[in-house]
Amino acid sequence: MKMIIDTDPGVDDAMAIFYAAAASDIELLGLTTIFGNVTNTMATRNALRLLEAAGLEDVPVAEGAAKPLVLPPFPPSLNVHGDEGFGDIPAAEPKGKAVDEDAADFLIRMARAHKGELVVCPIGPLTNIAIAMQRDPDFVANVKKIVIMGGSLEEGGNITPHAEANIYHDPHAADIVVQGGAKVVLVGLDVTHRILCTPDDFEAMAAQSPELGGMLQDMSHFYIKFYLEVAGLNGCGMHDPSAIIAATHPEHFEIREVPVVVSCDGETSGATLADPDSGRDPVQVCMAVKSDVVKTQFMKRLALLP
Ligand code: BDR
Ligand code: CA
Repeated sequence: MKMIIDTDPGVDDAMAIFYAAAASDIELLGLTTIFGNVTNTMATRNALRLLEAAGLEDVPVAEGAAKPLVLPPFPPSLNVHGDEGFGDIPAAEPKGKAVDEDAADFLIRMARAHKGELVVCPIGPLTNIAIAMQRDPDFVANVKKIVIMGGSLEEGGNITPHAEANIYHDPHAADIVVQGGAKVVLVGLDVTHRILCTPDDFEAMAAQSPELGGMLQDMSHFYIKFYLEVAGLNGCGMHDPSAIIAATHPEHFEIREVPVVVSCDGETSGATLADPDSGRDPVQVCMAVKSDVVKTQFMKRLALLP
C-alpha cells in the first residue's frame, strides 16, 4: 500500500512510523509534518530523525502548517510528549532536510502521481489535509482513502471531556475533511483506548529490536508517566500505530458508517458527532477492535527492525 503519514512526532507517532518502516505491505512515500504534540518545525526535525534512525533517509519529509486554519496557535503538548517530543530523549539534529515544497503541495503532487493508490494517514491535526482539499479540487478523487487517528463517537475525549486531541487542535480542518467526499476512516479513542502498551510491552520491544525498540522504550517512560498520572493507567494508548494498522488491516476493526459533524465552538469544540440528519455522506468510524490481534501484529512486525 502506497502511504504518506501526516505526523506531529510525538511518542506514539514514532511507534507508528517505525511500524510503517517494518511493514512489508506499506510503501512509505513520504512524511508530512504538522503542529500538535510539538511545533511544526520540531515535527519536521523529529520526522527526519526517525527516518534516519530507521534507515529510511531517502523518504522525503515535507513541512506543513504551523497553526490551525481558524483558531489561534496552540502551544505544543510538551507535558504529554516531553520537551523535544520524544519523552526524555534529548534532541539530536538530523542530517537531512525537508523538501522545498510544503506539505499540502507535496500531498497534492503525490496524490496526482499515484492516482487512486495513495493512502494518506494523518496522525496529527488535520490542517494539511484540509488545505490540500481546498487547494486542489481533484485531491479527493486522486487519493484512495484517508485513514485518520482522531475523534471519538462514544468514548468521550482525552483533551477535554468531549474532544480527542488531534481533532480539537483544528476542528475546522477536521470538519472540512469529514465532509469533503473522500473515503475517510476515523480511528479514534473508541478503539485506541482499548489497545494499551504497557512498560512490559516496551521492554519486549527493546529486547526484540534493541536499536529502534530500545529507542521507543527510552521515549515511553515520560509518556507512560503521563498516562499513569492523568488516567491512572499502567500503559499508553496505542493511538497512532492503530491508524496505520487500520489502513492495511480494516478487518481487525468493527466499522460503523455514519455522517459525522465536528463541533467547532463552545465547550464541545473538537467533538466528532454522528449526525444522520446532516445530509453529509457517511464516513467510516472504527467502534471496536480485536485489540490482541492489533497489538500482536504491531509487536511482531516491530521485532523485524534492528
Ligand atoms: C493523538 O494525540 C497525540 O497526542 C497523539 O500523538 C495522537 O496522535 C491521540 O489523541
Ligand atoms: Ca500524533
